[in-house]
Amino acid sequence: MARAAAKVILLGEHAVVYGAPALAAALDRGVHAVAVRADADRIRVGDREHVAGDGSDIERALAALRASLDAPPLAVEATLEMPAGAGLGASAALGVAIARAVLDVIAPAHDVSLPESRARVLAAAAAWERIFHGNPSGIDAAAAECGGCIYYTRDTGPSPVVLARPLPLAIAVAGPPAKTREMVDNVARLSARRPDLVGKAVSGITALVQNARLCIEAGDMPGLGKLMDLNQMLLSGLMVSTEGIENACATARRAGALGAKLTGAGGGGCVIALADLDPAPILAAWREEGFECFGATVGGVEHAA
Ligand code: PMV
Repeated sequence: MARAAAKVILLGEHAVVYGAPALAAALDRGVHAVAVRADADRIRVGDREHVAGDGSDIERALAALRASLDAPPLAVEATLEMPAGAGLGASAALGVAIARAVLDVIAPAHDVSLPESRARVLAAAAAWERIFHGNPSGIDAAAAECGGCIYYTRDTGPSPVVLARPLPLAIAVAGPPAKTREMVDNVARLSARRPDLVGKAVSGITALVQNARLCIEAGDMPGLGKLMDLNQMLLSGLMVSTEGIENACATARRAGALGAKLTGAGGGGCVIALADLDPAPILAAWREEGFECFGATVGGVEHAA
């Protein structure tokens, strides 16, 4: 049984596609996967099954992952512990967990060094992600593979961030999720029309992310919350927020959140709110308004070696 973590992007989504840094953190929820050799590819995720040649994205993604690892046909079963397509990195976590399960089948741990197996898992997860995303920055797969909290750029890849104290988060599904690929394409179209506007947002988000890293390392929670709020404003300027996201953020702030923003691609999907100590009042306020939500503590999850 192989596992990979779901993630939240704390700050920096979308800008990361244009080379800016972003901060992501693994959640203690994730994906479990098992793989065995088979006559033809077969993949079951939850209660949905796909078979070789059915043309589904998931079947094509498995073929791409398998080609990257040079693996034989496989039967894969995977279980998600979080909502899919809501900005929590379900597809990257699936890619990483399945790549790990496949590597266990074709190259048992004692045959491959840890750095080699991590590089192969990341390459296979990237091949998987490209079927769903087109132009993924790679942050989702890096967060799922590394665990813990990471600072990520497309150029440098992930580097671990050491938290001065755990981050108590509340996470809500603020509306039906949009496709990441479509949201990334929308920002690309805006950038083609208004390069000045997107360029300024990307520079602003870069500064916010760099300061947020310092806040996380120093344990400055109010500072981090303010930076999250500012990041949300810049994301709204990129047209990736929605009324549901703005409402969920406002509710969280009224209930005492230090900051709140969308996480992931936006257009729907999840919102994260930073609590001072206890996310319970934020969760209660969201539940009263009918949002599906849960609490998560970032910092309880260790980095991979
Ligand atoms: O896959 P999601 O919905 O968590 O979003 C990924 C973050 C983006 O910056 C929007 C896209 C990317 O590839 O980095």
